[in-house]
Amino acid sequence: MGSDIFEKCFNFQTVNEFKKMGYYPYYHRVESEQGPEIIVEGKKRIVVCSNNYLGLANHPKVIEASIKAAQRYGTSCTGSRLLNGTNDLHEKVERKFAKFVGKEDAVLFTTGHHSNLGALSCLISKSEVIITDKLDHASIVDGCRLSFGQMARFRHNDMSDLERQLIKHQGKGTLIVVDGIFSMEGDITNFPEISKLAKKYRARIFVDEAHSLGVIGENGRGTGEHFNMENEVDVLMATASKSMASIGGFIASKVEVIDYIKHNARSIIFTASLPSACVGAIDASLDLIQQEPERRTKLMNTAKKMQEAFKSLGFNTNNSESPIIPLTVGTDIVAFKMWRMLFDEGVFASPVVTPAVPEGQAIIRTSYMATHSDEHLNFILEKFKKVGKAYGIIE
Ligand SMILES: Cc1ncc(COP(=O)(O)O)c(C=O)c1O
Repeated sequence: MGSDIFEKCFNFQTVNEFKKMGYYPYYHRVESEQGPEIIVEGKKRIVVCSNNYLGLANHPKVIEASIKAAQRYGTSCTGSRLLNGTNDLHEKVERKFAKFVGKEDAVLFTTGHHSNLGALSCLISKSEVIITDKLDHASIVDGCRLSFGQMARFRHNDMSDLERQLIKHQGKGTLIVVDGIFSMEGDITNFPEISKLAKKYRARIFVDEAHSLGVIGENGRGTGEHFNMENEVDVLMATASKSMASIGGFIASKVEVIDYIKHNARSIIFTASLPSACVGAIDASLDLIQQEPERRTKLMNTAKKMQEAFKSLGFNTNNSESPIIPLTVGTDIVAFKMWRMLFDEGVFASPVVTPAVPEGQAIIRTSYMATHSDEHLNFILEKFKKVGKAYGIIE
């Protein structure tokens, strides 16, 4: 007789054990909007785990645009973009996004995850190779797994390892895929070197700007603009779930590439399109990103202040160059315990443990918003100092 496939579920006790110990950090119930102060399970806490970088998720203009779009188009498009699920608002934001990032065309998927899944899986065919940074986001890995091509990885931001892979696969059609700002590490991809190598070995480059769009570059256009090399980015991906205060994902590139993706990416063809309320929010956020550059300036000043302050307290901030600041704390259990103490002290952070990080290198990931005030930041630092000392991470 075969075994019961539910056996593994009945034996899955890790969550219950952590709940019993009081250290379970996931799926906590938020009972308010996503500002710097939120109510989590009945208590006000200062958030350092949000991706609402520019603070637009509760901007009155964004909320108004979302309501208006729902009133005009209803709550759902009830079908795929390919068939009945494309309306004029989807097309409007695609044009607006493409213009903003300086690409010929763009396509809007229902999530950022879907964008990577669909675009990567259809762009790489059997005889071709996709080379990713080892710390690229999980949605990139998923896209690679779904493609029929060969997958290769290079050590994080290690250009000689990337070149080794390019030499190994020389002669095959190749796509290099990197995060602009790495989601857990907060460092920026070495785009100038990647671009040199891509030219040398005739590879194309795909940059996931999930955490960099709206955040870096003089006008918030991301990694290419940050390095003054926008034309060298062949395919630009961005999620709408972070700086754009909504949900959804864009792929921007040449007209022919976007046309190919629109007709071959399974994750746009076989899923319903983004509800108009979400598209309305993207529309207004794209305007605000361009009209209110002071938000980006404030965000980056906050990032610098916090990087310096954590370092002077004695924390290891790794190579953070962005509003994502990971603090190394050691074992998984220490990360969970510190998370709990921070939570009780009124700070809502994220523990990142194995397998997302190597054994013994668990982190507390912190991230900042343009709307964190100095008071919030000082409160966060005071609590991290207390908790870091309690667990012997700092002196
Ligand atoms: C680098 C990166 N790419 C893609 C995604 C997926 O985007 P979304 O959450 O909008 O689906 C994320 C989400 O966290 C991300 O961090």
